[in-house]
Amino acid sequence: MPFLGQFAPPGDKSISHRLVLMSLLAEGRMHVAGLSVCEDVNASLDIFRALGGSASPEADGLSVVGLGGRWRGPDNLVLDCRNSGTTFRLLMGLLASRPGRFVLDGDSQLRRRPMERVAEPLRLMGASVETQNGKPPVSVVGQALTGIVHQLTDASAQLKGALLLAGLSAAGRTVVVEPAKTRDHTERLINHWGGQVAVDGLRLTLTPGPLTLPPFFAAPGDPSSAAFFLAAAAMIPGSRVTAVNVLLSHGRTGFLRVLDRMGAKVSMTLTSDTPEPVGEVAVAYDGPLSAVEVSASEVPSLIDEIPILALAATQAQGVTIFRQVDELRIKETDRLMSIRHQLGALGARAAVEGDDLIVEGPTSFILPDSLDSGHDHRLAMTLTMALKAAKASIPVLGRESIPVSYPNFDQHLSELWQD
Ligand code: S3P
Repeated sequence: MPFLGQFAPPGDKSISHRLVLMSLLAEGRMHVAGLSVCEDVNASLDIFRALGGSASPEADGLSVVGLGGRWRGPDNLVLDCRNSGTTFRLLMGLLASRPGRFVLDGDSQLRRRPMERVAEPLRLMGASVETQNGKPPVSVVGQALTGIVHQLTDASAQLKGALLLAGLSAAGRTVVVEPAKTRDHTERLINHWGGQVAVDGLRLTLTPGPLTLPPFFAAPGDPSSAAFFLAAAAMIPGSRVTAVNVLLSHGRTGFLRVLDRMGAKVSMTLTSDTPEPVGEVAVAYDGPLSAVEVSASEVPSLIDEIPILALAATQAQGVTIFRQVDELRIKETDRLMSIRHQLGALGARAAVEGDDLIVEGPTSFILPDSLDSGHDHRLAMTLTMALKAAKASIPVLGRESIPVSYPNFDQHLSELWQD
């Protein structure tokens, strides 16, 4: 029973957040097609509207009117980012830079995630940002900011994005140096919308200035959503799955390079390249997978795909090592431990040594009474795929978290799975 067929994954979550949140700063009107309708992006959209932004449904998309930085709300208005770390961190940067007093908050998972990594560099720019012992709720009082030169210690696109968005309204240039290349959607969109970010390897130099919305923007499909079906196809004999209209930027397709190294048949066709590379990708089972080593410098390009790649590693011959994946400890759950425990519950040999995740395969799954995603959407989808590979059906607790990123996951699951 393989996965077979073609599907269009939902709009890319990272790009969708930026389209909505950066419209708080930009002038003009834009028709957006393909915006993700996942719960995380809805949180961004609700906040955009709560701050005075207008986004109205139209045939085939959404019409967004830029707020040009003139957001408003009563003092200390609480903006609920729900489960979305990207909403929270990008907003910290935006709100820090223009007048207004706001409180950012979120659900119980978001309330355990670190925010000082964003607050600290923002304070160096002159921002007034207070966390509760480093975590949400966070209060932000908008100030006149000054650009800084800042070397990031964490490879995080959310953090980089927050500083760039703050820098757009600051006096003087903002220079951000990354420790490793992370997804580049913020800088691409700034340049696409008339701003100026010069990229020189890991060094980004932003010149402050206004942004103007293009009349039309089509959000491509999310490779991080497509990854669940593509990786499942790589490990289940007889499978071949094609994702169409999917974002194929280098910073997001590390998982495809890893699946290729593991021995799956991966082919990509680029259909357009501006403002983001978009195309079609097919993955087919091509015999048993082999273990690989995933280096620390590759991790940012596949950070959200580690759960599903770890599952693929349980079916690969040998010891797969994911180097320095400690960032996983601060995702929606402590994903490093959840992966180890849940794959362990299936009888897989998964261990954490220091900050490395080690999976030894191949494994014939054993079935516990249930699996527990801990309400982590990416874990829930990974465990669902584990049960497809095991040809078994047991409850996956916390499955209702899946629409956080992939509202029509179950529809695609039933369309692509050949009973
Ligand atoms: C994201 C960046 C990554 C990723 C998250 C989305 C973004 O987080 O895990 O799902 O859109 O910028 P970090 O920046 O915390 O690594």
